[in-house]
Amino acid sequence: MNISIIGTGYVGLVTGTCFAEVGHQVVCVDCDAGKIELLKAGGIPIYEPGLKELVEKNTAEGRLRFTTSTREGVEASDIIFIAVPTPPLPDGSVDLSFIEGVARDIASAMTGYKIVVDKSTVPVKTGQKVAETIQRYCKAKVECDVVSNPEFLREGFAVEDFMRPDRVVIGVTSERPVKAIQEVFAPYNAPVIVTDIHSAELIKHAANSFLALKISYINAISLVCEATGANVQEVANGIGMDARIGRRFLDAGLGFGGSCFPKDLSAFIKISEQLGYDFRLLREVQRINAEQMERFLKKIADTLWVLKEKRIGVLGLAFKQNTDDVRNSPAIDLCHRLLKEGAVLRVHDPKAMEKAKAVLKEATFVADMNAVADGCDALVVATEWPEFKKLDLEHARKVMTHPILFDGRNLFDAREMERHGWIYKSVGR
Ligand code: UGA
Repeated sequence: MNISIIGTGYVGLVTGTCFAEVGHQVVCVDCDAGKIELLKAGGIPIYEPGLKELVEKNTAEGRLRFTTSTREGVEASDIIFIAVPTPPLPDGSVDLSFIEGVARDIASAMTGYKIVVDKSTVPVKTGQKVAETIQRYCKAKVECDVVSNPEFLREGFAVEDFMRPDRVVIGVTSERPVKAIQEVFAPYNAPVIVTDIHSAELIKHAANSFLALKISYINAISLVCEATGANVQEVANGIGMDARIGRRFLDAGLGFGGSCFPKDLSAFIKISEQLGYDFRLLREVQRINAEQMERFLKKIADTLWVLKEKRIGVLGLAFKQNTDDVRNSPAIDLCHRLLKEGAVLRVHDPKAMEKAKAVLKEATFVADMNAVADGCDALVVATEWPEFKKLDLEHARKVMTHPILFDGRNLFDAREMERHGWIYKSVGR
């Protein structure tokens, strides 16, 4: 199929590349000329495992190309995917101006029937507005179907998630575009759910909110564990073996962050409010998430007493493992809070150092994770990078003033740490 993707961010670039990988002809469009130049020159604007190789391969084999011209993308394709940002507004609702702008650009470039698919996370009923906008701005009066196809990929596992999805959701207002969209996704051999467009849009917000709720639930359980001497990981294993619950997204820690959960949760609460429902359950999910960070900071302050001029080594800056993304990162939030208290920070992340430098000016960035501990009064694990488990703890103990480790992601074995002389504090254990 001939496909164009408008918006070459995390979702758009992965979508376009993974479509090309299964044989579709793809044009990726972005208004950021610098980004398009970089991609044309063989560079890649984000770190995502496996993505660079696939971009190189599919570009070289002629199935993937990049442009700043929406018109070029629209003319070259039968199906146009919208994958532009939907950032939050100050009141928590969604800024849909990029979506509106793209709908207008598509409309003015259309000369024949097109299928326009929304992949961006949007409030329910956005598809309807996109259809109205295209009709309004399309001079040629050609026909068009608007489809909702929410994306469920996780950063850090985006290629894997896209190539092997749990399900593909297709929301439509008529039967006409269904066959073509099914054809696009046929190579992935995933279950396909065809539904009405409003339900498809709601599926995305309902899914992300449920996952956030699951994390806040286990974080609340971690509080009860700490108050009783139980171990939250044992509890998560025990409840997670019930197939109705499942073990995934039951890792207690510093709380969830990133460019999706915090934003989507606020948006869904706002959408519900506008529809006349006060979604108190989700407001509680937000509250638990914010409190999780406060409790962890209190643990650090209770142990170190005065934070002013304490030298603290922070391992992890990305909002989670396997990514260089620091947007809404709990790790960055933690660093800012420690700096505000006057602490002196030495920080490291396997992939997010460059992006973190822009938002964390007062910290010392250390290239080698084993050098972070030099002269530190305490270490903090803030992101669940698996490589931190390989930290040379013997060396760290020797170069620190005190062997104190605050593990915000429960990476280490508490008993082992204590056996080796560490003052070790984690979450819910
Ligand atoms: C999330 C969803 O998982 C994707 O399905 C969705 O497509 C995406 O949002 C989106 O809407 O675009 P993502 O934000 O990339 O994906 O990251 P997750 O892996 O879901 O992690 C989110 C946050 O939750 C991270 O800060 C992570 O550390 C935290 N988390 C995750 C926990 O604290 N505990 C867990 O058990 C799992």
